Amino acid sequence: MKRDFLRLGDFSAEEYRALFRRARELKADRRQRTLEGRSLLLLFEKASTRTRISFEAAIGQLGGHAIALPMAESQVPRGETLEDTARVASRYVDAIMFRTHGDDRLQSLARAATVPVINGLSDGGHPVQVLADLFTVQEKLGSIEGKTIAFVGDGASNMALSFLEAAPIFGFTLRLAAPEGYRPEGARVVAPSEAVQGADVVVTDVWISMGQEKEAAARRKAFTGYCLDEKLLARAARHVIVLHCLPAHRGEEISAGVLDGPQSAVLDEAENRLHVQKALLEKLIL
Ligand code: CP
Ligand code: NVA
Repeated sequence: MKRDFLRLGDFSAEEYRALFRRARELKADRRQRTLEGRSLLLLFEKASTRTRISFEAAIGQLGGHAIALPMAESQVPRGETLEDTARVASRYVDAIMFRTHGDDRLQSLARAATVPVINGLSDGGHPVQVLADLFTVQEKLGSIEGKTIAFVGDGASNMALSFLEAAPIFGFTLRLAAPEGYRPEGARVVAPSEAVQGADVVVTDVWISMGQEKEAAARRKAFTGYCLDEKLLARAARHVIVLHCLPAHRGEEISAGVLDGPQSAVLDEAENRLHVQKALLEKLIL
Protein backbone atom coordinates (compact mmCIF):
# COMPACT_ATOMS: atom_id res chain seq x y z
CA MET A 1 0.00 0.00 0.00
CA LYS A 2 1.39 3.39 -0.97
CA ARG A 3 1.55 6.14 1.62
CA ASP A 4 1.13 9.85 0.97
CA PHE A 5 2.53 12.78 2.92
CA LEU A 6 -0.16 15.43 2.61
CA ARG A 7 -0.21 16.70 6.21
CA LEU A 8 1.74 16.29 9.45
CA GLY A 9 -0.94 13.99 10.86
CA ASP A 10 -0.10 11.37 8.20
CA PHE A 11 2.86 10.03 10.25
CA SER A 12 3.26 9.21 13.93
CA ALA A 13 5.69 10.79 16.42
CA GLU A 14 7.74 7.57 16.30
CA GLU A 15 7.95 7.74 12.51
CA TYR A 16 9.16 11.34 12.72
CA ARG A 17 11.85 10.35 15.22
CA ALA A 18 13.12 7.73 12.75
CA LEU A 19 12.83 10.18 9.86
CA PHE A 20 14.93 12.81 11.67
CA ARG A 21 17.54 10.18 12.63
CA ARG A 22 17.85 9.26 8.96
CA ALA A 23 17.96 12.94 7.90
CA ARG A 24 20.89 13.45 10.32
CA GLU A 25 22.74 10.52 8.73
CA LEU A 26 22.06 11.81 5.24
CA LYS A 27 23.25 15.28 6.22
CA ALA A 28 26.50 13.82 7.54
CA ASP A 29 27.09 11.68 4.43
CA ARG A 30 25.88 13.17 1.19
CA ARG A 31 27.16 10.30 -0.99
CA GLN A 32 24.44 7.75 -0.28
CA ARG A 33 22.68 6.62 -3.46
CA THR A 34 19.66 4.76 -2.17
CA LEU A 35 17.24 5.88 -4.91
CA GLU A 36 19.29 4.88 -7.95
CA GLY A 37 17.07 4.87 -11.07
CA ARG A 38 14.01 6.31 -9.29
CA SER A 39 12.06 9.31 -10.62
CA LEU A 40 10.18 12.07 -8.85
CA LEU A 41 7.62 14.32 -10.57
CA LEU A 42 7.35 17.89 -9.27
CA LEU A 43 4.05 19.53 -10.22
CA PHE A 44 3.75 23.26 -9.59
CA GLU A 45 0.63 25.42 -9.65
CA LYS A 46 2.43 28.17 -7.71
CA ALA A 47 5.92 29.68 -7.87
CA SER A 48 8.88 28.12 -6.05
CA THR A 49 12.59 28.53 -5.46
CA ARG A 50 13.53 26.32 -2.48
CA THR A 51 11.01 23.53 -2.98
CA ARG A 52 11.99 22.97 -6.58
CA ILE A 53 15.75 23.16 -6.02
CA SER A 54 15.77 21.10 -2.82
CA PHE A 55 13.60 18.28 -4.20
CA GLU A 56 15.58 18.17 -7.47
CA ALA A 57 18.87 18.10 -5.56
CA ALA A 58 17.53 15.55 -3.05
CA ILE A 59 16.48 12.90 -5.56
CA GLY A 60 19.51 13.63 -7.76
CA GLN A 61 22.01 13.20 -4.92
CA LEU A 62 20.32 9.91 -3.98
CA GLY A 63 20.90 8.61 -7.54
CA GLY A 64 17.46 9.27 -8.99
CA HIS A 65 16.14 12.18 -10.99
CA ALA A 66 13.40 14.77 -10.97
CA ILE A 67 10.99 15.95 -13.64
CA ALA A 68 9.70 19.45 -12.86
CA LEU A 69 6.45 20.35 -14.60
CA PRO A 70 4.85 23.75 -14.04
CA MET A 71 1.16 22.84 -14.39
CA ALA A 72 0.65 25.80 -16.76
CA GLU A 73 2.79 23.93 -19.32
CA SER A 74 0.85 20.66 -18.93
CA GLN A 75 -2.44 19.64 -20.55
CA VAL A 76 -4.38 20.50 -17.38
CA PRO A 77 -5.16 24.13 -18.39
CA ARG A 78 -6.48 22.68 -21.68
CA GLY A 79 -8.95 20.52 -19.81
CA GLU A 80 -7.22 17.27 -18.87
CA THR A 81 -8.32 16.22 -15.40
CA LEU A 82 -6.00 16.08 -12.41
CA GLU A 83 -7.03 12.45 -12.00
CA ASP A 84 -5.96 11.45 -15.53
CA THR A 85 -2.71 13.35 -15.00
CA ALA A 86 -2.09 11.46 -11.75
CA ARG A 87 -2.93 8.05 -13.23
CA VAL A 88 -0.66 8.56 -16.23
CA ALA A 89 2.22 10.04 -14.19
CA SER A 90 2.01 7.06 -11.82
CA ARG A 91 3.01 4.81 -14.76
CA TYR A 92 6.23 6.82 -15.24
CA VAL A 93 7.50 7.93 -11.84
CA ASP A 94 7.97 6.59 -8.30
CA ALA A 95 6.52 9.60 -6.43
CA ILE A 96 4.79 12.91 -7.10
CA MET A 97 5.19 16.21 -5.28
CA PHE A 98 2.33 18.65 -5.80
CA ARG A 99 2.27 22.38 -4.97
CA THR A 100 -1.25 23.70 -5.35
CA HIS A 101 -4.01 25.96 -4.03
CA GLY A 102 -6.92 24.15 -2.38
CA ASP A 103 -6.38 20.96 -0.42
CA ASP A 104 -9.21 19.39 -2.42
CA ARG A 105 -6.89 19.40 -5.47
CA LEU A 106 -4.15 17.73 -3.46
CA GLN A 107 -6.54 15.04 -2.24
CA SER A 108 -7.97 14.41 -5.72
CA LEU A 109 -4.49 13.93 -7.12
CA ALA A 110 -3.44 11.68 -4.23
CA ARG A 111 -6.56 9.51 -4.57
CA ALA A 112 -6.00 8.95 -8.26
CA ALA A 113 -2.22 8.44 -8.09
CA THR A 114 -0.94 4.93 -7.44
CA VAL A 115 2.45 6.26 -6.25
CA PRO A 116 3.10 8.31 -3.09
CA VAL A 117 2.08 11.99 -3.22
CA ILE A 118 3.85 14.70 -1.21
CA ASN A 119 2.29 18.06 -0.37
CA GLY A 120 4.78 20.66 -1.58
CA LEU A 121 2.60 23.47 -0.14
CA SER A 122 -1.14 23.98 -0.33
CA ASP A 123 -3.44 26.62 1.13
CA GLY A 124 -4.00 24.28 4.09
CA GLY A 125 -0.39 23.51 5.01
CA HIS A 126 3.31 23.33 4.21
CA PRO A 127 4.27 20.10 5.96
CA VAL A 128 7.68 19.52 4.32
CA GLN A 129 8.72 23.02 5.41
CA VAL A 130 7.57 22.54 9.00
CA LEU A 131 9.46 19.22 9.14
CA ALA A 132 12.64 21.06 8.10
CA ASP A 133 11.86 23.76 10.69
CA LEU A 134 11.47 21.24 13.51
CA PHE A 135 14.60 19.37 12.41
CA THR A 136 16.41 22.73 12.68
CA VAL A 137 15.00 23.27 16.19
CA GLN A 138 16.28 19.85 17.24
CA GLU A 139 19.68 20.55 15.72
CA LYS A 140 20.07 23.99 17.32
CA LEU A 141 18.35 23.51 20.69
CA GLY A 142 18.87 19.77 21.27
CA SER A 143 15.20 18.79 21.35
CA ILE A 144 11.71 19.82 20.27
CA GLU A 145 9.62 18.34 23.08
CA GLY A 146 8.71 20.87 25.77
CA LYS A 147 9.91 23.87 23.77
CA THR A 148 7.81 27.00 23.29
CA ILE A 149 7.44 28.12 19.70
CA ALA A 150 5.84 31.51 19.01
CA PHE A 151 4.24 32.13 15.64
CA VAL A 152 3.61 35.81 14.91
CA GLY A 153 1.71 36.92 11.81
CA ASP A 154 -0.83 35.28 9.53
CA GLY A 155 -2.39 32.65 11.78
CA ALA A 156 -4.43 31.29 8.88
CA SER A 157 -1.38 30.80 6.64
CA ASN A 158 -0.30 27.35 5.52
CA MET A 159 2.77 27.67 7.79
CA ALA A 160 0.74 28.53 10.89
CA LEU A 161 -1.72 25.71 10.17
CA SER A 162 1.07 23.14 9.85
CA PHE A 163 2.72 24.38 13.07
CA LEU A 164 -0.63 24.03 14.87
CA GLU A 165 -0.98 20.49 13.56
CA ALA A 166 2.61 19.62 14.53
CA ALA A 167 2.42 20.83 18.16
CA PRO A 168 0.63 17.81 19.73
CA ILE A 169 2.58 15.32 17.59
CA PHE A 170 6.02 16.73 18.47
CA GLY A 171 5.08 17.82 22.01
CA PHE A 172 5.88 21.54 21.85
CA THR A 173 3.76 24.50 22.96
CA LEU A 174 2.63 26.75 20.15
CA ARG A 175 1.82 30.37 21.01
CA LEU A 176 -0.01 32.11 18.21
CA ALA A 177 -0.24 35.87 17.70
CA ALA A 178 -2.48 36.84 14.78
CA PRO A 179 -4.89 39.70 14.12
CA GLU A 180 -8.65 39.28 13.98
CA GLY A 181 -9.78 37.78 10.67
CA TYR A 182 -6.45 35.96 10.20
CA ARG A 183 -6.83 33.34 12.90
CA PRO A 184 -7.64 29.66 12.49
CA GLU A 185 -11.06 28.79 13.80
CA GLY A 186 -11.09 27.91 17.49
CA ALA A 187 -7.37 28.59 18.06
CA ARG A 188 -6.27 30.50 21.19
CA VAL A 189 -4.41 33.66 20.26
CA VAL A 190 -2.38 36.17 22.30
CA ALA A 191 -0.69 39.51 21.59
CA PRO A 192 2.73 39.37 19.84
CA SER A 193 4.53 40.48 23.04
CA GLU A 194 2.89 37.71 25.05
CA ALA A 195 3.59 35.07 22.39
CA VAL A 196 7.29 35.91 22.19
CA GLN A 197 7.90 36.34 25.96
CA GLY A 198 10.51 33.71 26.93
CA ALA A 199 9.98 31.72 23.71
CA ASP A 200 12.66 29.27 22.53
CA VAL A 201 11.78 29.69 18.86
CA VAL A 202 10.06 32.57 17.07
CA VAL A 203 8.58 31.98 13.61
CA THR A 204 6.86 34.17 11.10
CA ASP A 205 5.69 33.94 7.50
CA VAL A 206 4.72 36.40 4.78
CA TRP A 207 1.56 38.47 5.24
CA ILE A 208 0.53 37.95 1.63
CA SER A 209 0.76 34.32 0.58
CA MET A 210 0.74 33.12 -3.02
CA GLY A 211 -2.76 33.57 -4.41
CA GLN A 212 -3.64 36.44 -2.01
CA GLU A 213 -2.07 39.26 -4.04
CA LYS A 214 -5.41 41.04 -4.49
CA GLU A 215 -5.78 41.35 -0.70
CA ALA A 216 -2.35 42.94 -0.27
CA ALA A 217 -3.47 46.40 0.89
CA ALA A 218 -6.02 45.10 3.41
CA ARG A 219 -3.54 42.57 4.75
CA ARG A 220 -0.72 45.10 5.22
CA LYS A 221 -3.15 47.22 7.22
CA ALA A 222 -4.45 44.32 9.35
CA PHE A 223 -0.93 43.11 10.21
CA THR A 224 0.34 46.48 11.46
CA GLY A 225 2.03 45.80 14.79
CA TYR A 226 2.89 42.19 13.90
CA CYS A 227 6.36 42.78 12.46
CA LEU A 228 9.01 40.56 14.05
CA ASP A 229 11.61 43.22 14.87
CA GLU A 230 14.45 43.61 17.35
CA LYS A 231 12.18 45.11 20.03
CA LEU A 232 9.77 42.19 19.92
CA LEU A 233 12.54 39.59 19.72
CA ALA A 234 14.23 41.06 22.82
CA ARG A 235 11.41 39.48 24.89
CA ALA A 236 12.34 35.94 23.82
CA ALA A 237 14.71 33.56 25.65
CA ARG A 238 18.40 34.43 25.27
CA HIS A 239 19.02 31.24 23.26
CA VAL A 240 16.09 31.97 20.88
CA ILE A 241 16.31 31.00 17.23
CA VAL A 242 14.31 32.76 14.54
CA LEU A 243 12.77 30.79 11.67
CA HIS A 244 11.17 31.98 8.43
CA CYS A 245 10.42 29.59 5.58
CA LEU A 246 11.38 32.28 3.01
CA PRO A 247 10.83 34.14 0.76
CA ALA A 248 10.86 37.04 3.26
CA HIS A 249 9.92 40.69 2.95
CA ARG A 250 12.34 42.73 5.04
CA GLY A 251 10.54 45.58 6.78
CA GLU A 252 7.16 43.88 6.43
CA GLU A 253 6.64 40.68 8.47
CA ILE A 254 10.25 40.71 9.72
CA SER A 255 12.92 43.40 10.11
CA ALA A 256 16.17 43.10 8.17
CA GLY A 257 18.05 43.18 11.49
CA VAL A 258 16.23 40.08 12.77
CA LEU A 259 16.23 38.14 9.50
CA ASP A 260 19.94 38.72 8.93
CA GLY A 261 20.89 38.83 12.62
CA PRO A 262 22.75 36.39 14.90
CA GLN A 263 19.61 34.62 16.15
CA SER A 264 18.33 33.88 12.66
CA ALA A 265 18.57 30.22 11.58
CA VAL A 266 16.84 30.73 8.23
CA LEU A 267 19.67 29.50 6.01
CA ASP A 268 20.16 26.30 8.01
CA GLU A 269 16.38 25.93 7.93
CA ALA A 270 16.41 26.26 4.13
CA GLU A 271 19.33 23.80 3.84
CA ASN A 272 17.55 21.28 6.02
CA ARG A 273 14.74 21.02 3.47
CA LEU A 274 17.26 18.98 1.41
CA HIS A 275 18.20 16.50 4.14
CA VAL A 276 14.70 16.00 5.55
CA GLN A 277 13.20 15.54 2.08
CA LYS A 278 15.85 12.94 1.23
CA ALA A 279 14.76 10.94 4.28
CA LEU A 280 11.12 11.45 3.33
CA LEU A 281 11.66 10.28 -0.27
CA GLU A 282 13.41 7.14 0.99
CA LYS A 283 10.58 6.46 3.44
CA LEU A 284 7.88 6.83 0.81
CA ILE A 285 9.59 5.19 -2.17
CA LEU A 286 11.58 2.29 -0.67
N1 CP B 1 9.88 27.90 1.66
C1 CP B 1 9.49 27.53 0.43
O1 CP B 1 8.70 26.60 0.23
O2 CP B 1 10.06 28.26 -0.58
P1 CP B 1 9.68 28.25 -2.13
O3 CP B 1 8.30 28.88 -2.25
O4 CP B 1 10.74 29.09 -2.77
O5 CP B 1 9.67 26.85 -2.62
N1 NVA C 1 2.68 31.24 3.18
C1 NVA C 1 3.57 31.35 2.05
C2 NVA C 1 4.68 30.35 2.16
C3 NVA C 1 5.68 30.40 1.03
C4 NVA C 1 6.73 29.32 1.11
C5 NVA C 1 2.79 31.19 0.75
O1 NVA C 1 1.93 30.31 0.70
O2 NVA C 1 3.02 31.95 -0.18
